Amino acid sequence: SMPTTAKVGWKAPSNIALVKYWGKKANQIPANPSVSFTLDACATTTSLLFQKRKAPAHDFSFELYFDGQKKEDFKPKIATFLTRVEPYLPFLKGYDFTIETTNSFPHSSGIASSASGMAALALCLLSVERMARPEMTADYFNKKASFLARLGSGSACRSIEGDLIQWGHTSGIPNSSDLFGIHYPFEVHENFKNYHDTILLVHKGQKTVSSTIGHGLMHNHPFAAQRFSQAHENMASLQPIFKSGDLEGFIALVESEALTLHAMMMTGQPYFILMKPNTLEVIHKIWAFREATKMPICFTLDAGANVHVLYPEKVKEKAMEFIKDQLVVHCEAGQYICDRIGKGAKEL
Ligand code: PMV
Repeated sequence: SMPTTAKVGWKAPSNIALVKYWGKKANQIPANPSVSFTLDACATTTSLLFQKRKAPAHDFSFELYFDGQKKEDFKPKIATFLTRVEPYLPFLKGYDFTIETTNSFPHSSGIASSASGMAALALCLLSVERMARPEMTADYFNKKASFLARLGSGSACRSIEGDLIQWGHTSGIPNSSDLFGIHYPFEVHENFKNYHDTILLVHKGQKTVSSTIGHGLMHNHPFAAQRFSQAHENMASLQPIFKSGDLEGFIALVESEALTLHAMMMTGQPYFILMKPNTLEVIHKIWAFREATKMPICFTLDAGANVHVLYPEKVKEKAMEFIKDQLVVHCEAGQYICDRIGKGAKEL
């Protein structure tokens, strides 16, 4: 049975999509499949203290602390999330919660914390349920955590496990689901183990388009159908690329996905440009460096101006030299984060 009070904690990583999720249907169902590297350094740590209520309750109540400070402005987002997951976690209404959360990356750095944040909270909530159901298998636990995280932020369902996670029902991908992320089920070459992601903070501060609005732009978007089928094609193309270790093929596909994501925003109604001049400076320098050195260094983007520089383990010294020499000058306050593929969330 459930204890009266206890504290649980999880550290959940962010992730970076290679094939992008952009566009959704009702209930956080993705319009197209996506695949991402789970990250390691960029993470949210959350602890959840829960206390059984004396009087029977018909609602849940919670307090939220962010970096030790009480945060009222984040509460509506968390309340929406709790309302969405409550049907799958019926114990919620009998408890009061204190949520304490911190991010490893600077606040308002333009790094989205929704994936790691929602994953960490989903894991905490499910840990509470597991206390009453100790027979829960690790496999079920991870699947349900991913399912719950998805209800907070779509991409969060790819932040439970490592190191390469696929989300979205796709013919030809066994066990793929719109409801939760799965381990990428095909062979992955050594070249893609220990991949690095150096995140250049080109523009800190608030994004001009929330991802909710961004996904919404894909409804009635003139190129939506084309884009969604392209994502399916790219998922299929990745299979032989991952299997053979084809870095050139990987680069072409990943950079195209990033630019397509931004192209969708530029061609929506209303339209947005989320890149900054320094985003383009960095992209051009990466291309010139790759042309000159033939080194497999490429970029991807989220729905913002920051650039993720991706490269394999075998070129990491040369890549960091290049980044420090040529790219850091385009970062706000010279800030960047050295990240890499990670193994998934950890219980504290
Ligand atoms: O999880 P959301 O709703 O914030 O969507 C994020 C979508 C992108 O980060 C732009 C792409 C992706 O697949 O992560």
